Amino acid sequence: MEYSDRYQQSIAQPETFWKQQAEEIDWYKKPSTILGVDELGSDRWFADGELNTAYLALDYHVENGRAEQTALIYDSPVTNTVEQYSYRELRDQVACFAGVLREQGIGKGDRVIIYMPMVPQALVAMYACARLGAVHSVVFGGFAARELAIRIDDAKPKLLLAASYGIEVDKVIPYKPLVDQAVELAEFPPQRCVILQRPQLKAEMIEGQDLDWQALTSRAKPADPVPVKATDPLYILYTSGTTGKPKGVVRDNGGHAVALKYSMKAVYDINPGEVFWAASDIGWVVGHSYIIYAPLLAGCTTLMYEGKPVRTPDAGAFWRVIEQHKVKACFAAPTAFRAIKKEDPEGALKQKYDLSSMTNLFLAGERLDPPTYYWLKELCDIPVIDHWWQTETGWAIAGNPMGISPQETKAGSATLPSPGFNVQIVDETGKSLPTGKQGQVVIKRPLPPACLPTLWGDHQRFIESYMSEFPGYYLTGDGGYFDEEGYLFIMGRTDDVINVAGHRLSTGEIEEVIASHDAVAECAVISQNDALKGELPIGFAVLKDGVELNPVQLQAEVVAKVRNDIGPIACFKQLMVVKRLPKTRSGKILRKTMKSIANGESYSAPGTIDDPVVLDEIAEALDN
Ligand code: COA
Ligand code: AMP
Repeated sequence: MEYSDRYQQSIAQPETFWKQQAEEIDWYKKPSTILGVDELGSDRWFADGELNTAYLALDYHVENGRAEQTALIYDSPVTNTVEQYSYRELRDQVACFAGVLREQGIGKGDRVIIYMPMVPQALVAMYACARLGAVHSVVFGGFAARELAIRIDDAKPKLLLAASYGIEVDKVIPYKPLVDQAVELAEFPPQRCVILQRPQLKAEMIEGQDLDWQALTSRAKPADPVPVKATDPLYILYTSGTTGKPKGVVRDNGGHAVALKYSMKAVYDINPGEVFWAASDIGWVVGHSYIIYAPLLAGCTTLMYEGKPVRTPDAGAFWRVIEQHKVKACFAAPTAFRAIKKEDPEGALKQKYDLSSMTNLFLAGERLDPPTYYWLKELCDIPVIDHWWQTETGWAIAGNPMGISPQETKAGSATLPSPGFNVQIVDETGKSLPTGKQGQVVIKRPLPPACLPTLWGDHQRFIESYMSEFPGYYLTGDGGYFDEEGYLFIMGRTDDVINVAGHRLSTGEIEEVIASHDAVAECAVISQNDALKGELPIGFAVLKDGVELNPVQLQAEVVAKVRNDIGPIACFKQLMVVKRLPKTRSGKILRKTMKSIANGESYSAPGTIDDPVVLDEIAEALDN
């Protein structure tokens, strides 16, 4: 069946479509209800089905002929290590670590925070939680202690799992002091921390708080998978919203397993036994979906890469990995290839490697900008595919259906909506917009399986953030349009979320940190376009009356504070002191207009502005 028929069926008869896909996984109890609405009013898939995600991704394959196939390749240029784990080895390690968790009193529904670098034990920990029906919440290693504490307080975990350090190129980043600080800051600290001591740096253990990973593992008894309901949560993944408080996106077990397995073929054209490499981090949704879960649900080999696109050791690192492990399809963020292009513009390093195993190159995390698209297309001579998705959806909302019927790619477009996603473009009143007109991108309910049913502990925020602006539709927060051939173009966020090196950040969160500086009366953060990282945050601060502080000193203090409170990943380096911020007469800061000024785009002073002269002052500050 062609893409258009499948897509139409998925929209017109979603239950028939997803019932068929649900046949592809081995349930403990097959669902008889395919789609329903829960007591909170959210659409739920396969509500009475029972399964275990870890069983499906590991034990199932061990029992069905893949026991000796490589499930995981760990490639770490920063530690000079390459390791391979078969499905059997991985299943045994997961069962054993699930035994450790069980001994620590972890069971169905308990939360476990994982703050770890890209090491196989992180994957083992995530699956061990899934095996017991516990809910993991992975926090990206580039976040500072305060961010970790915020997530601890929201998830209220019984246990925290961490490693002694991560490695950024050649820098050893101790994680344990950040864990200790976060535990101290948290109002609801975990009962215990289990620490993986990596060889280069041993963490100092705190008696009564910390337990040693290896010691617990060496005496653990393996635990069997526990059946859970399809609607039980598999994980919480925090992502930036428009306010300082991150949103805990909840992923269920059933819809997730069905949709992710489906996507491996439909979106990526990957078959069991083939090697799939998502060059992301387990702290992001791409890492959850396409390093950890989908490739193993589909019986493939997944690759975990502890390195960077450049400097580990050079801009040929990605090509080396693809050749060495015979990667069939690679998935990375455009910013990674911009970094490679910057260091090796002619792609000379690529010529050293045989990339014949790779049939498709996928990009997401931010829009694939046309210059990077053309550069990659020419260099690789294979389909270069942009696809659009969000933490909230867990898989591609739009992409090129490579496993159904591949389409011509178009620069700047994420191609076509994935089956199950009824994507529409509306104006601010919710009126449908014609082809070619840019507006808000919304998705008509029901969202397909794997998409979030709620936010952890805050259903009201779920409704307000996504469901209330256009009743019956999910608000993506992105702007875009369809062209006359039905290709979707996603042009950027319409809210205060920014995208820095493929990482999603909230300007509101950075503003909160700046505003907490004693000298600052008020502030605004906007993003400025950046040739490498896509966007970079810049701040504007108005000082309190009577405060005499050198702007250079203030900038240094605030930059250090953002780094300390949010983390290095915020990439916040620039703060400008201004006399006033441009506002509407009702007091709303004109961030969009400021952003246009910062990016050298044309702008006109909105009619509602309090005092248009302030805009000139902003332009002047940016010029200096
Ligand atoms: N733990 C601790 N610190 C981390 C970290 C981690 N896991 N990840 C990043 N950092 C630090 C970096 O060391 C850097 O610190 P510095 O300011 O001391 O130099 C800072 O956070 C900013 O990191 P980053 O924005 O990643 O910059 P970079 O120069 O190190 O690398 C890229 C730039 C483009 C190569 C890199 O950002 C990249 O590969 N991005 C792809 C992102 C991605 O895969 N996103 C997922 C969507 S598919
Ligand atoms: P995250 O939740 O971190 O995956 O970030 C999701 C956001 O990243 C989306 O809302 C988009 O703004 C942006 N994004 C991700 N992929 C793409 C893409 N292919 N094209 C355009 N924007 C993208």
